[in-house]
Amino acid sequence: MSKRLVLLMCVAVLGGGGFLAACGGDDDEGGTGAGGESTGATEGAKTIDVGAMDNAKGNVTICMGKDTGGDVTAAIKAFNAQKNGVTAKILEFSTSADEQRQQFVQRQEAKSGECDVFSADVIWTAEFASQKWLYDLTPYVDTRRDELIEATLETATFDGKVWGMPQQTDAGFLYFRTDQVQDKPTTWQQVYEDAKAKDGIVYQGAPYEGLTVNFLEMAYAAGGKVLSDDGKKSEINSAENVEALKLMADAVKDGTAARGVTTYMEEESRRYFESGRATYMRNWPYAYALGSKAAAVKGKFDVMPYPEFEGGTKAGILGGHNQVVSVFSKNPGGALKWISYITGEENQKNQFMNASQSPTLKAIYDDPEVQKKYAFATDLRDAISQAKSRPVSPLYPQVSQAIYENVHDALTGKVTPEKALETAQSEMDKALATF
Ligand code: GLC
Repeated sequence: MSKRLVLLMCVAVLGGGGFLAACGGDDDEGGTGAGGESTGATEGAKTIDVGAMDNAKGNVTICMGKDTGGDVTAAIKAFNAQKNGVTAKILEFSTSADEQRQQFVQRQEAKSGECDVFSADVIWTAEFASQKWLYDLTPYVDTRRDELIEATLETATFDGKVWGMPQQTDAGFLYFRTDQVQDKPTTWQQVYEDAKAKDGIVYQGAPYEGLTVNFLEMAYAAGGKVLSDDGKKSEINSAENVEALKLMADAVKDGTAARGVTTYMEEESRRYFESGRATYMRNWPYAYALGSKAAAVKGKFDVMPYPEFEGGTKAGILGGHNQVVSVFSKNPGGALKWISYITGEENQKNQFMNASQSPTLKAIYDDPEVQKKYAFATDLRDAISQAKSRPVSPLYPQVSQAIYENVHDALTGKVTPEKALETAQSEMDKALATF
């Protein structure tokens, strides 16, 4: 086995929030990968030249998922209006996280320089960095470390280096109708009971990354895990995880969850809630600004941090996007100039105020204008700081697929929750064994 493969095996895994370093066998040097220690998996990566941004000229293309709130398009307009020598343009990919990844991966495999910058989901850092598709941005991020919420910086860190500048972070909220809910529920069980008695709940139940998030939020709260402490085996098939999945599957069966929920991603759930058809919705903060403009629910909804799972705890999953620079970019200096703009305080505040996209910069949450507009600002920052990571691994896409496909089978009633998690466990073990 090549040294590189051995080193990739040593990649650390975060499961159920625990930090799990896995490296044994013939490589004692191997570290956690996700944290500060180097595993060697990214040896030889190109490092960004911070100085190149000063005199940068020319064009840069910014690839990302759908710009749902129009806030990145607005940022591009403002950046171009500066006439600083660099002109940015946006290339929008799919709304689905999985499809966004594929669209970027295809370009990187073809060594295409089409995307100078990519707005990369926090779960892709390990994979993209191991593939040597990204510039090491450590020298740039080092100049701004103190401004960032620590948890967001960790999502961009792998193998001892920082591969992206955190730009937008995410922690899920429980949206609820203030005209229907007088006493806020304190457990997930109560949420489902209340939803059953009223207009139900909507969330992201389609088979894709969003379902992995929705399930893990419940599973981690119930006390479950994804992988063993050494990161080598799956531990998804546990009594805690079965309990979490049962709560979700029963609600699909008895109609508490929206009828189409097993086909919904973020946007479909948002539109369903905005049409006034659900009492509760699980979604990211971006849905707040858009919901505030929706006639049927305007002024009739609020958000709350997640309640606890009965007999368990409270848990959230950290989401968000980091601005990464492709190694195939012909204009890395220009790319950095853009990154410096979009992640700057003025723009992040605009994106928060206009599109409720959560900033990665700590200070913005304390800004008086922000505090005035969003009563939830401090709760959101706390939720982000405490949110748990999804497993950190170059194999993450396979791990997640094993989760969402099987969880989806349980939600649609194709298999029991027990059987779904048994299958997920064996699929994950197979994937982990390929390294
Ligand atoms: C949001 C989150 C991202 C997550 C995705 C799932 O975009 O920021 O981290 O993977 O939703 O659909």
